[in-house]
Amino acid sequence: MYNWIRVLFSLLLSTDTVATHLPCRIRQPVLELSIYTLLRMAFIWQLVSLAIYLVGTLAIGAFLYDNFKSLISIIKALLEPYFQPQLPQSLLDKFGKWAVITGATDGIGKEYARELARQGLNLVLISRTKEKLIAVTNEIESEHKVKTKWIAVDFAKGREAYDQIERELAGIEVGILVNNVGRMYDYPETLELVPEDTIWDILTINIGAVTMLTRKIVPQMKSARRGAIVNIGSGSELQPMPNMAVYSATKKYVTFFTQALEQELAEFNVTVQLVMPMFVITKMNEYSNSVMRGGFLIPTARSFARSAVFTLGKTSMTTGFWTHGLQYFFMKLAPLHLRMLIGHQLTRRLRLEGLSQKKIT
Ligand SMILES: NC(=O)c1ccc[n+]([C@@H]2O[C@H](COP(=O)([O-])OP(=O)(O)OC[C@H]3O[C@@H](n4cnc5c(N)ncnc54)[C@H](OP(=O)(O)O)[C@@H]3O)[C@@H](O)[C@H]2O)c1
Repeated sequence: MYNWIRVLFSLLLSTDTVATHLPCRIRQPVLELSIYTLLRMAFIWQLVSLAIYLVGTLAIGAFLYDNFKSLISIIKALLEPYFQPQLPQSLLDKFGKWAVITGATDGIGKEYARELARQGLNLVLISRTKEKLIAVTNEIESEHKVKTKWIAVDFAKGREAYDQIERELAGIEVGILVNNVGRMYDYPETLELVPEDTIWDILTINIGAVTMLTRKIVPQMKSARRGAIVNIGSGSELQPMPNMAVYSATKKYVTFFTQALEQELAEFNVTVQLVMPMFVITKMNEYSNSVMRGGFLIPTARSFARSAVFTLGKTSMTTGFWTHGLQYFFMKLAPLHLRMLIGHQLTRRLRLEGLSQKKIT
């Protein structure tokens, strides 16, 4: 018995060791057995290594594809004019004369409007506050030779907003629709402490506006066989965000909605783009001094919008700003659970900032 145990252990080491521990009469068969076993083990090991190699290669390939697809599309689009100069190049030629922008009186939406006007597009600005709409349209008209129109609606009111917009857009051929309007909590907070009204507003605005406005404008773009829909999502969709649970979930909706629509509309030559910013200095983040200070990772709305508009027509999915792209890349290296833990740490800190600011005001 003892001898056989030694034989089994020896099998794992080497054939010579095996042989020396055996009585002569069985030395030869065991020697054959051990060579056979070793060959089998080597074969199984080869299979396991091949499987690991294949899975690893596929995972790295998928990761690189996901992260560099956008950069490659942008480079391709930048080279296009040299190889296909006959194709339309400006946003105006590619998509049409009019751009409609929601949430256009502040932050990212306002800067999208200014940048599109700089590129010669006429604008329809949609927001809630009439006085701000008048001020922004006047400002843009004084800076650029474009036509403007404004529509004051409250997207939180749901269905009625879209009938009004449809009526007011009659006769305008929309080339670019920027679904920018969005709402966050006043500051990151646990679900039961967020007022019910705020939650209804977030659901109605962040999910309703992007869906229903797109639904109204798509038929026109399909029949014109051109146009672009830009949906402003958020980097917070990259993982569930504790303390911003409703907001980040609505932004995941925007991601899925946009990506599905991109496929649906590709054959009609309608571009659909998802933009997923990280932090940008806007009034949405006013609860946090550390965000509002800005920096390398936190651009102003103007820098952000200029960079994001530059990607329009060049890539279907982008963070919109190069340092946000870096953030996205490194975050994606971490497993989902770790990203959630990091996100939770961040929103805990921001919540405290929000609470202390609320006490001061
Ligand atoms: N800022 C960021 O760090 C950040 C990061 C990722 C994603 N985003 C996304 O980017 C988009 C723009 O955000 P932002 O930071 O630029 O926002 P913002 O500065 O708060 O501006 C919001 C704009 O939307 C309008 N608006 C708000 N509620 C409305 C309603 N119920 N009906 C009609 N218009 C309404 C506001 O008009 P009034 O001025 O009249 O209220 C304003 O023009 C949002 O979708 C947001 O989720 C922002």
